[in-house]
Amino acid sequence: MESLSSIFTCHIFLALLHQNFLQVEVKGGNIVSVVKGIYQHGEIIKGHVVDYGNAVVMPGLIDVHAHLDDPGRTEWEGFSSGTKAAAAGGITTLIDMPLNSEPSTVSVETLKLKVEAAEEKIYVDVGFWGGLVPENALNVSALDSLLKAGVLGLKSFMCPSGINDFPMTNSSHIKEGLHVLAKYKRPLLVHAEMQLDSEGYPKENDDINDARLYSTYLRTRPPSMEEAAIRELLEVTKHTRANGSAEGSHLHIVHLSDSRASLKLLKEAKSRGDSITVETCPHYLAFSAEEIQDGDTRFKCSPPIRDAANRENLWGALMEGQIDMLSSDHSPTIPELKLFGEGNFLKAWGGISSLQYVLPVTWSYGKKYGITLNQLASWWSERPAKLAGQELKGAIVSGNHADIVVWEPNAEFELDENHTAYHKNPSISAYMGTRLSGKVLATFVRGNLVYKEGEHAPAACGVPILAK
Ligand SMILES: *[C@@H]1O[C@H](CO)[C@@H](O)[C@H](O)[C@H]1NC(C)=O
Ligand SMILES: *[C@@H]1O[C@H](CO)[C@@H](O)[C@H](O)[C@H]1NC(C)=O
Ligand SMILES: *[C@@H]1O[C@H](CO)[C@@H](O)[C@H](O)[C@H]1NC(C)=O
Ligand SMILES: *[C@@H]1O[C@H](CO)[C@@H](O)[C@H](O)[C@H]1NC(C)=O
Ligand SMILES: [Zn+2]
Repeated sequence: MESLSSIFTCHIFLALLHQNFLQVEVKGGNIVSVVKGIYQHGEIIKGHVVDYGNAVVMPGLIDVHAHLDDPGRTEWEGFSSGTKAAAAGGITTLIDMPLNSEPSTVSVETLKLKVEAAEEKIYVDVGFWGGLVPENALNVSALDSLLKAGVLGLKSFMCPSGINDFPMTNSSHIKEGLHVLAKYKRPLLVHAEMQLDSEGYPKENDDINDARLYSTYLRTRPPSMEEAAIRELLEVTKHTRANGSAEGSHLHIVHLSDSRASLKLLKEAKSRGDSITVETCPHYLAFSAEEIQDGDTRFKCSPPIRDAANRENLWGALMEGQIDMLSSDHSPTIPELKLFGEGNFLKAWGGISSLQYVLPVTWSYGKKYGITLNQLASWWSERPAKLAGQELKGAIVSGNHADIVVWEPNAEFELDENHTAYHKNPSISAYMGTRLSGKVLATFVRGNLVYKEGEHAPAACGVPILAK
């Protein structure tokens, strides 16, 4: 196998999987030919060959939802550790969320700070979502300039985000955002949860015994909050489209948890022909409320992880294509803010740390449902590439970037304190203590070997992705 110091300009991958033979030829960072078929003994291949035997060769994962918290909160994560974890997990591109860094990415100036923070630190390619917030939403020239500066789309919240400089938007802001985004053919991503007057659940609670209960946290964010937000969003898009003012706009719902009423609304909207996609995250597919111990705030995220029956419905919807794609929503922090001693679900930081593990997690928990490698590639590469407007990524075809993960689906490992994690604060991950199947052998970004079995390339050769 190759040494990590060499940056490949020419090279061929070989893989055999159940007698299916795949030969991928790479030149200058791009795929120049792909040959599939039944392996014939003695087949002659010229050039610089790496033979991966029975391992799986797949398009690298594209994570459209990660919080790398850089600049400003690099003790939480940062571009360097975050993209090292991504590379080790088979992710070749990630799109950074506009919040949890300091400042948030809501203007040309703050985008410039992001790109500067990323330069020479990223091991995989990184794109950026911009924030749609009240401060810029009603100002067309502000949104125009942010989109011209290269954000791949905009993200907004319909409930408080937990970050002071990232306030929630109302339907007027969303309408304006869609209108401007339509011109650029870029998506609006929405955190769809909405506080309802009728749901009078207290957010703060002085009774610590009660605040330690996972059921208390669940009651503060019922499925009706997701349903109400999605209902309002669909109302907004219906009007903007009827008006012709947002023709061509695309709406993407991030991290869906409610697999009942919310999903039904989305299904109806899709069948009417609305341009709408939805993602869910591995933690909603792996865990259920019944298994979460009181006080174990590693599992706090919003919307929350719901009951086991809800999880079964999510799997069903994913298998049937009603849920389009997966994302990590990697949202780390420092252990102190998870309040492990106190175990207060109402006050602890909400967010699950998972970036390095999403491939083995999806595979391990999905095996029971009979998921295929093609489905994995569709949920994690092909559809995310389309959402993020990355035409040269997301599939192993001639002309595309050679963004490739080579992995061994049957290799099992214990995810414990002795497993090497590249993200910061690995102890806060909800997956710690699980046994997983699927080991990444090598990760290539535009033909560069960025990770190989426990080692990263000496230089970070990922590039910032800016839309043109
Ligand atoms: C709109 O945004 C631009 C920056 O793109 C700024 O110069 C201008 O002052 C803003 N207008 C208002 C009314 O806030
Ligand atoms: C949304 O907030 C803006 C102020 O940022 C306000 O002008 C507008 O009326 C609000 N729209 C709705 C529907 O509440
Ligand atoms: C229709 O579009 C115009 C701008 O093109 C906008 O001012 C108006 O609010 C829109 N009406 C609705 C119902 O969306
Ligand atoms: C990790 O390795 C150390 C040293 O070999 C060992 O003492 C410890 O029990 C291991 N931890 C787990 C969870 O296996
Ligand atoms: Zn998020």
